[in-house]
This record gives sequence, C-alpha cells and structure tokens, in this order.
Amino acid sequence: MLHGQRRIQLGRLEREAMRAAGRFNGQLMDYVRPFIRPGIKTAEIDQMVHQYTIDHGHKPATLGYQGFPKSCCTSVNDVICHGIPGDYVLKEGDIVNLDLTSIVDGWHGDSSETFLIGQVTDEARAVTQCAFDSLYAAVDAIHPGCRVSDIGDAIVAVAGRFGFSIVREFVGHGVGQSFHQEPTIPHFPNRPSRHERLLPGTCFTIEPMINVGARYAVTDRLDGWTVRTKDGSLSAQFEHTVLMTEDGPECLTHSPGGPARGHRF
Ligand code: MF3
Ligand code: CO
Ligand code: CO
Repeated sequence: MLHGQRRIQLGRLEREAMRAAGRFNGQLMDYVRPFIRPGIKTAEIDQMVHQYTIDHGHKPATLGYQGFPKSCCTSVNDVICHGIPGDYVLKEGDIVNLDLTSIVDGWHGDSSETFLIGQVTDEARAVTQCAFDSLYAAVDAIHPGCRVSDIGDAIVAVAGRFGFSIVREFVGHGVGQSFHQEPTIPHFPNRPSRHERLLPGTCFTIEPMINVGARYAVTDRLDGWTVRTKDGSLSAQFEHTVLMTEDGPECLTHSPGGPARGHRF
C-alpha cells in the first residue's frame, strides 16, 4: 500500500511476464486473422481461439469470467463490445471486433481489432479508421508521468474530426495478474483522470469504442452481455495492452501481422 493506493508499478521481471503475455495475445490474433472472412461462424472463431490458447499451455481469460460463456468476444456491426460467439455467420459488408484476452503464466494480455468483412460501406470503413487512429493518437500522446486524461483528450480530438461519438460506459483498465484493475482509463477526459498520472511500470489497456451515431449503449436483456448502440448505428474498437516505461509507452500486444501505426483501411 502506498498512500492508501495499491502499488501498480511493475518491476523488471513482472514487466517481462507482461511482455510475454502481450506477445502471445498478438500471436493468437495473427493466427486467427486469416479465418475472419465471409462464411465463418463466430462460434468457429471462438473454437480456434480456445484450441490455440490451450495448445500453447495458456488460458482464455474470458471463459467463465463473471459467467461469460466463451473464450473471446465477437462484436458485429452495431455491437459495441462483449458480443458472445454463436451461430452468426459473418457476411460481406459486416465489421466485427475480435477481443482476445489470454492468461500466460498468471499474467493477462488483452487486445482487440475490428475486421472489415469483404467490401464494406464508406461509413463502416470510416468508423473503423477512427477507432484505430484514436488508439494510436492516444499512444502517441502519453509519456511517463503524464495524466491519464491525455488519453481521453487525444481520442476526443480524433473522434471530433470524424464526427463520431465515444462510448463512456466501457473504459480501458489496468491489467496484470488481474484482468481488470487500477487505473481506470476513460476514453474521454474527466475529473479523476485529470489528476491521475501514468508512472513508469504501469500496465493498462487503451480500447476506444467509437459509434457512428450517438454514444449511448444498451445491454441485451436476454444474454446480459451483448452491448449494442442505442440507435443501431455501427460501432468499432481497437485495443492494445500498453506498458508505460521510463522511455515512453510500449505496445505489448502489437503483432507482426496486425495493422501498424498509420494503417489505412
Ligand atoms: N476483453 C474485454 C476488455 O477489453 C473484456 C471482456 S470481459 C467478457 O476489457 F466477459 F465480456 F468477456
Ligand atoms: Co480490455
Ligand atoms: Co479486451
């Protein structure tokens, strides 16, 4: 305990453990990426994620997490997040976010990407680009000792340029031996985030969810998980696990096959 707050700064060996978890999560994303095509069932993606994870001796963090029934989240079109893989078959024109979280030797890697399925509308492409650009704008805006709100400020600027809205109910989070821990990383600036600082050794996610229409979200009453835009508009998201080091932010979940900074969709 440090001034009544839990110490969240990781030491050298803990950082290496988080790097390994992030690296594996990226490798898992690269493994499934070629299968995210028209005609695949979201449950089939989940099955591949599950099998690859356990074949490598690791654990899917979402399976059984607060009762979540699957090994990843698949969020299609107007689904903002926490979509449950099932019988839905991806079709040309869809956008789908695949959110993966692995536990590697007790440490969590957490990342997500939105995929365009075949040819999509200009709007679908733009909201995907906006979510991607806002993630990288946030990474580029932070440095050791910066304010957590520097993340929200950067994302607000990008979303504003596109004319899209930012979801508020779901936020980035500290990540380590727990899936979700301190600090809270809102994708918009607020009072607490203007005061909290990102010290070297802090590991957290940035995962902006961007809506074409209004920012409001509704959780499915039947499954208790699927979060959709209230107005039915499209939503896109990207997520990386980031370690703040003495030299600046390090993206732990970036993978060789994934879209790199500056990518155009
Ligand atoms: N991976 C999500 C995140 O980025 C959380 C999913 S929790 C689940 O924080 F239970 F919905 F899977
Ligand atoms: Co996360
Ligand atoms: Co995630």
